[in-house]
Amino acid sequence: MSKITTLSEFIMQRQQDFPFATGELTSILNDISIASKIVNRDVNRAGLVDILGAQGSENVQGEQQQKLDVMADNAFIRAFKSGGEVCGIGSEEHEDFIAFDNEISKNGKYVVLFDPLDGSSNIDVNVSIGTIFSIYRRKSPTGTLATLDDMLQKGSEQVAAGYVIFGSSTMLVYTTGRGVNGFTLDPSIGEFCLSHPDIKTPETGRVYALNEGNLNQCDPGLKDYAEYCRQDDPATGRPYSGRYIGSLVADFHRNLLKGGIYIYPTTDSHPTGRLRLLYECNPLAFIVEQAGGIATDGKNRILDIQPKELHQRCGYYVGSKQMVEKAMSLLKETEKIQA
Ligand code: AHG
Ligand code: MN
Ligand code: MN
Repeated sequence: MSKITTLSEFIMQRQQDFPFATGELTSILNDISIASKIVNRDVNRAGLVDILGAQGSENVQGEQQQKLDVMADNAFIRAFKSGGEVCGIGSEEHEDFIAFDNEISKNGKYVVLFDPLDGSSNIDVNVSIGTIFSIYRRKSPTGTLATLDDMLQKGSEQVAAGYVIFGSSTMLVYTTGRGVNGFTLDPSIGEFCLSHPDIKTPETGRVYALNEGNLNQCDPGLKDYAEYCRQDDPATGRPYSGRYIGSLVADFHRNLLKGGIYIYPTTDSHPTGRLRLLYECNPLAFIVEQAGGIATDGKNRILDIQPKELHQRCGYYVGSKQMVEKAMSLLKETEKIQA
């Protein structure tokens, strides 16, 4: 039997590759792994105890908070606050960022931005959901309170990013800029074990994922791309298969492993897009680039966008290189014809 490598072992091995590493990033990743196990436990018991359904409150974006959104948010904040390496966080569930006001945290060198539970609308119906996180070095001096500028950094500045998917099995996938690795939670031992080393995404695929119900509300170039996906062309594997789970993490994860494109464009009802740059688009863009894919807002590389607001939204085209490039070229062509 081949040797099992747990996430903690893997993180430690990687730390040894950096001669000046202090172990702080390692500790944050370990905190994330522990909080993920807590959320995993709660998500798995969701039908048994009274934690399904709406919390009865709205988050900053006017969306109904689910009880599990709030529980997951609490689990991650508790882990980061007690760890001491993180000086502040930004979460989908809080209007403002939170600066941890205690002596240990004020000396933390990092900030974390996260979506505690992605795919909330799928919670009550037992469909895959996830957590997405993004880690940056702070800009403000250590020993002080974290600032908004610490949170508003370009995605290209991320030092680590990842997601946890609560699916048919629970997986944690992350990158520190040296490839992408995936770990599956073995419930019998309570450990994330390396199951998907050095993930590379296929250059092209046969799956397109978008909410087709929005097509009449978006850029005509996107209609052309959807039409292209549906056309018959055995040479390019078309028609592609339409697959849309409605949990970004789950749609992204499938495409990462099998090849494909995920699109959430700007629409009439979401003129700046629906997905949030800082804790949805940027972390997954970092991962997809590390795996050989690309992520754009339809025009620009996601990781180059300078954020101006914590909950900033953007259009999102992410996945296999050739598929995203094709979608971008059709968007451009249609724009030219219309001009
Ligand atoms: P969240 O549950 O964190 O608010 O994110 C939901 C996002 C994303 O997971 C998903 O891909 C998208 O919203 C689905 O939106 P539509 O229902 O508009 O297609
Ligand atoms: Mn989300
Ligand atoms: Mn969410």
